[in-house]
Amino acid sequence: MVEENKNFYGYMMIIAIDGPSGVGKGTLSRRVAQHYGLLHLDTGLIYRTLGLLLHKEGMKAVEEEAALKIAKSMTLRQIAESPDLRTQEVASLASRVSVFPSVRSALLDMQREFASSDKGAVLDGRDVGTIVLPEADFKIFLMARPEVRAHRRLKELREKGIDPGLGEVLREILVRDRRDSTRTAAPLKPAEDAYILDTSDLTADEVFQKTLSFVEKK
Ligand code: DC
Repeated sequence: MVEENKNFYGYMMIIAIDGPSGVGKGTLSRRVAQHYGLLHLDTGLIYRTLGLLLHKEGMKAVEEEAALKIAKSMTLRQIAESPDLRTQEVASLASRVSVFPSVRSALLDMQREFASSDKGAVLDGRDVGTIVLPEADFKIFLMARPEVRAHRRLKELREKGIDPGLGEVLREILVRDRRDSTRTAAPLKPAEDAYILDTSDLTADEVFQKTLSFVEKK
């Protein structure tokens, strides 16, 4: 089992999968992790958990100091998928809080601790290949047209019984894209050595197969 998690150089594989929201990172990361028997962390959950904690404290305008205090107290054990984390409000708070360099750096150790597991890991997010794990064995950067991502996101939300409408989802995606890629701390951008894959016209299966070919050819 342990042998299977090793990469071609004989050590535990670490795979970084980055990209904007609604691009298919979550689906791909889960499949890749399962395929190679690696652990998986959606790093967006960390920022969403922080957003939710701020929301519970009744914060609308995000203040760096308050966010930092909570970020410093967070542990990996608090990070778990939940419907509360998937609301547009929490997504927006997560995106706003993620612009603070102090907050981002307070959350780094948690992500690196996860990646240092002796099982190997897939981490997905915005800056995994560039900042969190610049030494990752494989880096994949997914992109897709905003309209395509909005359709995918709306489908996911509808499956959860939430329907904000396509226009609202697209607007939120564009606002978050702008904030995530123009912030000075860890802006959303591919690592120089990332494999860049446009998923706009690909099925989830095709994205998965292309990723496996990249990993196995490298
Ligand atoms: O991937 P997501 O939609 O769950 O992420 C929510 C927000 O968290 C996103 O708008 C930006 C932030 N984020 C980040 O800044 N860095 C990461 N590695 C992951 C998420």
